[in-house]
Formats: sequence, C-alpha cells, structure tokens
Amino acid sequence: MYSIAIDGPAGAGKSTIAKAVAKEIGFIYVDTGAMYRALALYFLREGVDGHDRERIAAACPDISVTIDYDEDGGQQIFLNGENVTSLIREEEVGKMASTTSAIPEVRAALLELQRGMARSANVLMDGRDIGTNVLPDASLKIYLTASDDVRAKRRYDELTAKGIACDYDQIREDIIARDKQDMEREIAPLRQAEDAVLVDSSELSIEQVIDKVIAEFEKIK
Ligand code: DC
Repeated sequence: MYSIAIDGPAGAGKSTIAKAVAKEIGFIYVDTGAMYRALALYFLREGVDGHDRERIAAACPDISVTIDYDEDGGQQIFLNGENVTSLIREEEVGKMASTTSAIPEVRAALLELQRGMARSANVLMDGRDIGTNVLPDASLKIYLTASDDVRAKRRYDELTAKGIACDYDQIREDIIARDKQDMEREIAPLRQAEDAVLVDSSELSIEQVIDKVIAEFEKIK
C-alpha cells in the first residue's frame, strides 16, 4: 500500500495538483481540508464562537463527517448525512476551519477517519499535517508552496473568473493571516516534514508541478 502526503499553505494549489496526480496514478484523493471545513460549517450554523473550546469539544461527539466518491473519483463530503460538498468552499468556512482546527478535540475527531482511509487503499492525502502527523510513514511527502503574491494572485483570478468581486490586497492579507494561524497553533501546526520534498510552484505551471510530483513518486515506487 502506498500513501502520498501533500501539505502546504493556503492557495498553493494543493487540491488541483493532488486531484490530478491521484487520477493519473489511480489513487484515492483525500481532501482533509474539506473535513475540517464540514465541521466548521456545523459550528457556523450553530452560531458557535470558533474559539469556544468547551462548547466545540462538547459538540464533536454529535457530529459525523463521512466521505464518499462519485464515478469520477470526486470526493463528496457528508455532515451528519447531508451532502455539504458545495457548501464548504466559502471564504467564511475556510476561516472558521482554520480557527476550529486548532482545537484538539476537533483534530482527534478526524484523525482516525484519515488514518483509516490510508489503511484501506492507496491514497493521496492533502492538508496541513499529513506528512508530520497523520501519516508520518507516508511513502512520499511533498511540501507544496508558492510566494504570497502568487497565491493571492491565483485566488484573485479564480474569484474574478467566477464573476465574484474581490480585492487583491484583502485576499493577500487573509491568506497570510490564515497561514499564520495554521503555522502557530500548538497542535499539529503546518510545517514541512523533515523528509518532505519541497516544491515551490511560484514559477511553475500546473502541468509542471503534476509532472514533478509524479516523477518523485516514480523514484520511490
Ligand atoms: O486546505 P483548506 O483551505 O481546505 O483547509 C481549511 C483549513 O482547515 C486550514 O486553514 C487549516 C485546516 N486544516 C488543518 O488544520 N489540517 C489539515 N490537514 C487540513 C486542513
């Protein structure tokens, strides 16, 4: 059984790359950020303060997050049985996910689900702590990053293409704030695992990054 971990900051292109590589090599793609986002959606709906550890910890046992796959290998995410895949991409949900993912009980609720998936199939899992914490023995670890400007620009272009009005400076600020929060939390912070291959995608096309990850996998296969 093989497992590939791709970690890195917000907007580095992890999910685009992970999805494409998984398809190419026939692995199951596991988007762990989506799991944290599903929990965050629950807390937003309940009107819970994202920093209220006591209330959040008490709610965790009542929440079930499950994953299923459509025919194209697309991950569908369910919150207490409701398919919330299309509801978790909002910036507000991402921000809440970054805040609530710092709470130990939230991480504990998802850790076994993530490890269990890697035990039952060849997986390519992306997130913040996959190589450092979830799958420390992953067959291959990639730390995918890009400069703040490039990440903000990509996000700006993505939103503009969807017809959503947005402000570049605000996006850049939000990305930096989210990274800081993810890197400075006490439990399973975002950092490059010692044995991870660093890929800086600032100057690379999507195709080039995909090829690089596949080439790294070919080396260890
Ligand atoms: O990758 P994303 O934007 O969907 O992730 C949303 C948030 O979830 C991210 O800011 C931090 C948290 N997260 C985490 O703590 N650990 C992971 N393995 C994946 C995501």
